[in-house]
Amino acid sequence: MRRAKISIIGAGNVGATAAHWMAAKELGDVTLVDIPALDGVPQGKALDLSQAGPIEDFDIHLTGATSYEPTTGSDVVIITAGLARKPGMSRDDLLQKNTAIVKAVTEQVKRFSPQAVLIVVSNPLDAMVYVAHQVSGFPAHRVVGMAGVLDTARYRAFIAAELQVSVEDIQALLLGGHGDDMVPLPRYTAVGGIPLPELLPREKIDAIVERTRKGGAEIVNLLKTGSAYYAPSAAVTQMTEAIIRDKKRLLPCAAYCDREYGVGGYFVGVPAKLGAGGVEQIIEVPLSPQERKLFEASVSHVRDLIRTIKI
Ligand code: APR
Repeated sequence: MRRAKISIIGAGNVGATAAHWMAAKELGDVTLVDIPALDGVPQGKALDLSQAGPIEDFDIHLTGATSYEPTTGSDVVIITAGLARKPGMSRDDLLQKNTAIVKAVTEQVKRFSPQAVLIVVSNPLDAMVYVAHQVSGFPAHRVVGMAGVLDTARYRAFIAAELQVSVEDIQALLLGGHGDDMVPLPRYTAVGGIPLPELLPREKIDAIVERTRKGGAEIVNLLKTGSAYYAPSAAVTQMTEAIIRDKKRLLPCAAYCDREYGVGGYFVGVPAKLGAGGVEQIIEVPLSPQERKLFEASVSHVRDLIRTIKI
């Protein structure tokens, strides 16, 4: 059987760590790509990681490159290229620089892997996935952003710590943009099937929601030199696995919504079915007036940001 071909553009913290998780899961052959000025770095990381194969028992090919030829015909391409946040910066502060980077990268992806599913990780996420969609011209179901899996993972980790239960038993849903106005939905959060509001008082849930919204900044402030990468790379690995193995997983993703949730043609976080075709379905859940208000505020922030982009 042909092994899946995965390319990761940007061999920095998120990209290289994603390659690590993917190798450990033997998801497919992985090519790491970075800029020519860093020639040797993606090659060195790929070689180093491939030498962990005999120890960790994974049997895939890892390649590093500073050109796109080795990515030809990829099934999934992950874009992590771009600047990461430093303390005091919002994700939106990265907008202009990362727009130029994501545009340049997407042009190459389109040329070398016209049939790929494209997963965008670069921030500000909802705007960068929009750029990748515009520039690639790919059908919207083959372009998706990684944010919700990470944000719900943070939310689930905080709930598990508060309740002292396994993270495995926490299922959660989160909507909206990947910013401080993201919308975790306690009503759609369950612990072993029990709705969260049955287990925690309102104030505790509010505090967890707030910490989740600021989860990225909490790590930026601790690291001081960059932003989170272990959980983001694990999140993009889970999405890649859902696509490569056609798992039809229901995961919160930044997916293109037109009539769905009344969004009107933007990428925002919604529950999506991920399989071999990319985003195979968007699931619409009923929202209370308060939840809808929060969702619309988050979407309107995404819209405002996108209006300022010059692609
Ligand atoms: N083509 C390929 N790679 C590029 C390009 C480009 N045009 N421009 C930058 N890069 C590379 C950088 O050289 C660097 O190796 O992208 C990599 C980014 O890695 P880090 O600086 O370590 O940043 P990281 O933590 O991986 O975050 C990457 O993901 O989570 C988001 O906000 C984060 O936008 C940021 C992105």
